Amino acid sequence: MALERSKVVASQDTAHGVGHDYVKGSPHLRHDRLRHMVEDRLAQLVRATIERDGSCHVLEIGAGHGTFTDALIAAGARVTVTEASAASAELLTSRYADVDAVEVYYDTSGESVFDLDRTFDAVSCIALMHHIPDYVSFARRLATMIRPHGWFYCAQDPTYYPRRSWLTRILDRGTYFVWRLAQGEVRRGLATRWRRLRGEWSETEESDLVEYHVVRDGVDELALAGALEELFDDVDLFTYWSTQSPVLQRLFQRLDPPSEFGIAATGRRG
Ligand SMILES: C[S@@+](CC[C@H](N)C(=O)[O-])C[C@H]1O[C@@H](n2cnc3c(N)ncnc32)[C@H](O)[C@@H]1O
Repeated sequence: MALERSKVVASQDTAHGVGHDYVKGSPHLRHDRLRHMVEDRLAQLVRATIERDGSCHVLEIGAGHGTFTDALIAAGARVTVTEASAASAELLTSRYADVDAVEVYYDTSGESVFDLDRTFDAVSCIALMHHIPDYVSFARRLATMIRPHGWFYCAQDPTYYPRRSWLTRILDRGTYFVWRLAQGEVRRGLATRWRRLRGEWSETEESDLVEYHVVRDGVDELALAGALEELFDDVDLFTYWSTQSPVLQRLFQRLDPPSEFGIAATGRRG
């Protein structure tokens, strides 16, 4: 697992290099409705902590270019952000150079965060868990860094594929495929798809490593929620529809097939 983890982290650095466009393939950044939903839940958690304790220090793992760091600061939090991509860490460092409320930490192994030996009021992981091979134990270890009464929040990870209804499967894969076709990646997309349908993943190809669980089985939201229930008083698991294309996002919004999920776990037990 350690070798796999380090390969996956190395692929984050390569895939999210200088000039990487996080927005293009990220429905939660592209579509206002989704971004606001993710941000509003996050802001509510921050405000509740500030109301109770007077301040809120959040550890944000895998901040990308800082979309949700901005939301956290706007809600009044202090934020320590980590990034496994050198280019993104550099961009964040210069972006927040004059902002006292933000501290940036380049996590070369994706694991050095656990050596910080610090605690926080909360941990936020947006669009992150699907990049972590052993996400359940990763979340458990992050929870050890959360102070009593604190919270854990994650969002924008694909629901577990084996449990999905056929309708969710068809809509999710179908809309993704249509979007890929529109990007002009037909041949490469088909070859990769065919290989993955046969259950074959490359341990060296970046496309099979960077979006680790997206190209495998999705993220087991019940396993994650179950692990958090052992550590937090309240665990709110929510699901929603998310797809790349703006037209298809709107088209199936009413139906709301549960393609993606988030978890707000509050009341960390002491
Ligand atoms: C899909 S992006 C999401 C970025 C941002 N949270 C957002 O929603 O816009 C995932 C990010 O997590 C980073 N990442 C992946 N594994 C990580 C780890 N173990 N520690 C820190 N960052 C990690 C990647 O480099 C990438 O920038």
